Amino acid sequence: MKNIKAIIFDAYGTLFDVNSAAEKCKDKIGNKWEGFANYWRTTQLEYTWLRSLMKRHRDFWQVTEDSLDKSMKAFDINLSMKNELLNLYKVLSPFNEVPEVLKTLKEKNYKLGILSNGTPALLNELIESNNLNNIFDDVFSIEEVGIYKPSSKVYDIPIKKYNIQKDQVVFLSANTWDVSGGGNYGYNSIWVNRNNNIFDSLDYKPSHEIKNLKQLLDVV
Ligand code: LAC
Repeated sequence: MKNIKAIIFDAYGTLFDVNSAAEKCKDKIGNKWEGFANYWRTTQLEYTWLRSLMKRHRDFWQVTEDSLDKSMKAFDINLSMKNELLNLYKVLSPFNEVPEVLKTLKEKNYKLGILSNGTPALLNELIESNNLNNIFDDVFSIEEVGIYKPSSKVYDIPIKKYNIQKDQVVFLSANTWDVSGGGNYGYNSIWVNRNNNIFDSLDYKPSHEIKNLKQLLDVV
């Protein structure tokens, strides 16, 4: 890839493991923790899409709590665990290779950013709790435009800020619909396929698919 002006990462599921909150409670939740974690994530995303379509925006923290309420009912999880799960969601762990790869990219002088559904406060807490300060040039939140991914208004945010061409952005996401969202918008989207998933049919196929962020170093 040539003429890259910025490398922009999705946050939840790409840099940070959304299942890590429930996983840290697996002794209390039991074997169903993974099904519960997946259901919570799916419901959370559905709420973002539905709220965007209904034009009834609530921030990502509210959506995360609302989707947790439904998921705890669906999986019959003791309500006393709600605060613990929410607090753990604020300090989700990064995937293993992430800190080192980000530091290497920073040393290579790439402009690095995050573009996420998360609120600025949530994203800053994730960055600080995982000692990733001073890595990102910018942390872009959809709160700036009040609508969730995959609205083109979201993908527009870094382009307007940097005044660059869409295809000068390398965008990485593990969420296939987000890869398509960025790709249809005009980014060079790369799919981080950690779990051998199936790509969605949404009018875009990424030029690169990688298993983890380490492989990004072979592409850029
Ligand atoms: C985000 C969601 C899509 O961070 O994971 O924007």
